[in-house]
Amino acid sequence: MAARPAGRPAPPWAGWRYTMPVPMTERPVDLRSDTVTQPTPEMRRAMAEAELGDDVWGDDPTVIALEERAAELTGKEGALFVASGTMGNLVSLMAHVPRGGEILTHQGAHSDQHETANHAVVVGASMRLVAWDPDGRMELDAVREAFRDPSDVHQPITSIIVQENTHSDSMAQPLPASYVGELAAIAHERGAKLHIDGARLFNAVVALGTTASELLADADSASFCLSKGLACPVGSVVVGSRDFIWRARRARKLLGGGMRQVGVLAAPGLVALRDGPGGMIQRLAEDHANARRLGEAIAELPGIELDPRRISTNFVLFRIHGRAGERADDRRLTRLFLERLATNGVWMIEYTRDVIRAVTHYGVDVADIDRTIAATRAALDDVREMTPVAVAVADGGAT
Ligand SMILES: Cc1ncc(COP(=O)(O)O)c(C=O)c1O
Repeated sequence: MAARPAGRPAPPWAGWRYTMPVPMTERPVDLRSDTVTQPTPEMRRAMAEAELGDDVWGDDPTVIALEERAAELTGKEGALFVASGTMGNLVSLMAHVPRGGEILTHQGAHSDQHETANHAVVVGASMRLVAWDPDGRMELDAVREAFRDPSDVHQPITSIIVQENTHSDSMAQPLPASYVGELAAIAHERGAKLHIDGARLFNAVVALGTTASELLADADSASFCLSKGLACPVGSVVVGSRDFIWRARRARKLLGGGMRQVGVLAAPGLVALRDGPGGMIQRLAEDHANARRLGEAIAELPGIELDPRRISTNFVLFRIHGRAGERADDRRLTRLFLERLATNGVWMIEYTRDVIRAVTHYGVDVADIDRTIAATRAALDDVREMTPVAVAVADGGAT
């Protein structure tokens, strides 16, 4: 490959791979995300043996079974299998929001930060952002006030509230049905809808000791990911009324997301959504226990400010500090720490600016957590030796 001429900036795609710089000789403990999970042996068998049809014609029996199971679990009339969480959110917006409508959501929401402005490009809608508190909730009065005045010809029409559950940036707090109900009431009083971005919906269900149908009772629609903590290789499911699902199905087709013998991808979802130990929902409690184990241990390291009581599901967010007590604005320190950690066999990521994220999942067991604790201690020691500053780990909750 030709060398880049000196002084020429790197092209935007030059750093797109979120891989770690250090070659690994043994299997790393990969805590970058729960998206890295591999399908179980049973899922692989289910994929090989899946009964198939053509899902665009609506006759793939495995997809039909998955959609029926998802609707049953969430207490909704219908469901739609889609390629990703991003597509699930997008087809939901396309089904609910007219061109020139406005989407009301929380600052840092996945739909705002990580979905390439698809709401603007495809839906033709604007987005209005509301602050959230350490529990991951938007203040209800602030939500009411963020609604536009429909009688003012200058303003867009607020058409939908979108709320993540779990709410990622607050260290993946699970939001209870009572709060979902309050958001729904605000939306419905004003003729708007409530969509739940439940990429990690079942983490919330397990953490709260509730059911998906209780949690979504007041929501108009939701999407949840099969390909995160539930360990499927591909896919998300959108749920809602029969009429909404029909519009979402048309939206999926418009996006080129109508797939044919896609039962091969739906089959692991049927394994994941089983009740009890045969499925992948109940075991999410292990991921939550592992996150707490990790958080409680690193909170013991010198200079630590992390409050492990904030770890409610499978995210651990923390910061590296500068000189004692000072928050480092030097991202170099964070990067250095992540590099040293990778050398010690553990992968985490810089999540939002200066906040480091570790996510527990099906591919990580208690021994991996203990290896991570030791590697974190060693990386902190290394960074301290390599830089003149003290290092501390802090609660990365409210960002
Ligand atoms: C809260 C949230 N919503 C939506 C998505 C999108 O999922 P996907 O990566 O499958 O498009 C993610 C992915 O990490 C997420 O964390």
